[in-house]
Amino acid sequence: MRFSLALCLLLFSGGPVFAQATDVPLLIGGCQGCHGAAGQGGHGIPAIKGTHSRDEFAALMRAFSANERPGTIMGRISRGYTPEQIALLAAHYARPQ
Ligand code: HEC
Repeated sequence: MRFSLALCLLLFSGGPVFAQATDVPLLIGGCQGCHGAAGQGGHGIPAIKGTHSRDEFAALMRAFSANERPGTIMGRISRGYTPEQIALLAAHYARPQ
């Protein structure tokens, strides 16, 4: 009985585990398919590597998720990340400070 309860908790924690991921290679894996392996952009998708400061990058992500910046897809994508994850993405992609 105790075992099944533990198993249930384990199974149902599958979603939130990713929601809390702070592993940078895992996080940027969600960007590379469109923005390129190095964030260089291409095929009509903007470059994101080294194009903005950390603050600007995080502000862009927040603006997309608040529908304050028009976009085809980034509104939905940006809403999938916590502020902590956005800070990690910004640290990875932004211009060196
Ligand atoms: C399905 C393709 C796709 C994925 C996946 C994707 N993006 Fe984007 N991204 C776009 C497109 C297209 C735009 C242009 C705005 C729009 O149309 O939504 C964009 C724009 C941006 C911009 C604004 C760039 C600028 O200078 O205006 C940032 C920042 C950004 N993406 C960050 C990310 C990050 C970080 C991830 C991963 C968490 C990510 N994107 C994942 C397609 C994608």
